[in-house]
Amino acid sequence: NDYDLLVVGSANADLVIGVERRPGPGETVLGSDLAVHPGGKGGNQAVAAARLGARTALLARVGDDAHGRLLLDAQRAAGVDTAGVLVGGAPTGVALITVDPSGDNSIVVSPGANGRLTPGDIRAAAGLFRASRVVSAQLEIPLETVVEVVRGLSPGSRFVLNPSPPRPLPAEVLAACDPLIVNEHEAKVLLGEGRAGVAPEDWARSLLAEGPRSVVVTLGAAGALVASPAGVARVPSVRVAAVDTTGAGDAFAAALAWRLGAGEPLAEAAAYAARVGAVAVTRAGAQESYPTAAEVAAL
Ligand code: RIB
Ligand code: NA
Repeated sequence: NDYDLLVVGSANADLVIGVERRPGPGETVLGSDLAVHPGGKGGNQAVAAARLGARTALLARVGDDAHGRLLLDAQRAAGVDTAGVLVGGAPTGVALITVDPSGDNSIVVSPGANGRLTPGDIRAAAGLFRASRVVSAQLEIPLETVVEVVRGLSPGSRFVLNPSPPRPLPAEVLAACDPLIVNEHEAKVLLGEGRAGVAPEDWARSLLAEGPRSVVVTLGAAGALVASPAGVARVPSVRVAAVDTTGAGDAFAAALAWRLGAGEPLAEAAAYAARVGAVAVTRAGAQESYPTAAEVAAL
């Protein structure tokens, strides 16, 4: 394979303001100076994998504008192959992000060009799919485009999905996931109220019953759960002081996808991914916070 990982997904300019607390309806609060960071769940995954040393390609769409150029520059600087990044059709996607003193974030995404990444764009990139060992996606692009990604998978290549932001998924997509990676919020949306059960182990088992080949439930400071037909196992967390959790989940997903493609068992790959995510939360921003393999080893 030419690529360890092909990431299909969104690229956003992250407009970030630090706040003491979030405003309620009708309220105005003053925040920090504005910071503009390269982001988007797809762009983040690609940079995270490349920084770890994975041969990585990104299939995405940005606008023909300054934000788009910022995002492409960040991808190239990280070593991501951007030949599959399409330009034009709408302004580059933007994420309005507030980060509070505990490092937690709230995000509103305007998809822009991400919403114009079409099933036809996926079909036109068949060569990238043939060249990639693992393909990963998220849900900041149209759902019909994600369906086309699943249809375009080469025999023997693996598909990893983080359904974020969450919405109900067609059976065809669920059946391809190996694994489906969800946090608590995403698990509850996918399962629906009342079906989620009380314990995270219940969510993992219920999600597995929906058809994916494996499931990973991330639990923040409580670590993660991995579930496959062989059973459910807990993966320990790494204790760190959180500065900014933005994009930590994307780094987790990318690291997991890369290690699985290298042949690691699910629980080991998830333990490694948890360490990558732990480093990411100790630093500001998303892509800028992602570690190299050496930094993960030193944790
Ligand atoms: O997961 C974090 C990302 O979500 C941010 O970079 C932002 O762009 C949104 O897509
Ligand atoms: Na971070």
